[in-house]
Amino acid sequence: MRSILIAGNWKMNLTVEEARRLALDVRQGLTNLPENIEVVVCPSFVHLSGVNFQLPSSINLGAQDVFWKSNGAYTGEISCEQLLDVGCSYVIVGHSERREYLKETDVMVSSKVLACLKHDLRPIVCVGENKEEREKKLTESKVTQQVELAFKDVKSGDIAKVDIAYEPIWAIGSGEAAEPSDAEAVVILIRQVLKGLFSEKEAEQVRILYGGSVNPQNIASFVLEKDIDGALVGGSSLKANEFVGIVKQVMKI
Ligand code: PGA
Repeated sequence: MRSILIAGNWKMNLTVEEARRLALDVRQGLTNLPENIEVVVCPSFVHLSGVNFQLPSSINLGAQDVFWKSNGAYTGEISCEQLLDVGCSYVIVGHSERREYLKETDVMVSSKVLACLKHDLRPIVCVGENKEEREKKLTESKVTQQVELAFKDVKSGDIAKVDIAYEPIWAIGSGEAAEPSDAEAVVILIRQVLKGLFSEKEAEQVRILYGGSVNPQNIASFVLEKDIDGALVGGSSLKANEFVGIVKQVMKI
């Protein structure tokens, strides 16, 4: 049985003090997490150490990006080793905002995934179509290509160490979440693609999340879908009561 993962992507927000406060409030709101629900918060790089200090061992720390090289002359980049050193166990890879604004390609996403696996850092790999692709009915081909290119060099035996987030770009930050049944259909497609790349058993072990305008009111409808294993939460993860509310809704299911 796959566990549920709720990950908060704080994006480029908060001062040191605000991040510390949010981590503390999340900690106080989420005592007694059941074993089948994992929670991760992903602050900006500059807040990782401070937030790590506030978090109990039951809540995981994640970064929002990573570079594929181990060390050296790569100005501005951050390695897996450095993330592990400040307490990260997760990292978001290939978020659509990085693909769009930083021109991150599928090749770069693949390199980052391989670096994470080599270092036992768990990547949450984001895939999803934009509005135009959706309207042209290109969702399937876009997502299939992203999944194939992200994982084509992953060794059999390693794919279960990866989580995937299906995030339709038009739903991110728009307040307009996907229909749960539509998200479920894409999540099923993603698992089919994984079955083509790996064994059926391995593909079944990969957690696939939904992301895009998730909030305490709609989270249950996503997690109740058979194949959706949690959520990547942006805006709602910046308010402790909403993020805690999302996790508590999942606990009721
Ligand atoms: P959102 O962001 O919840 O604000 O839509 C999700 C994401 O970008 O991961």
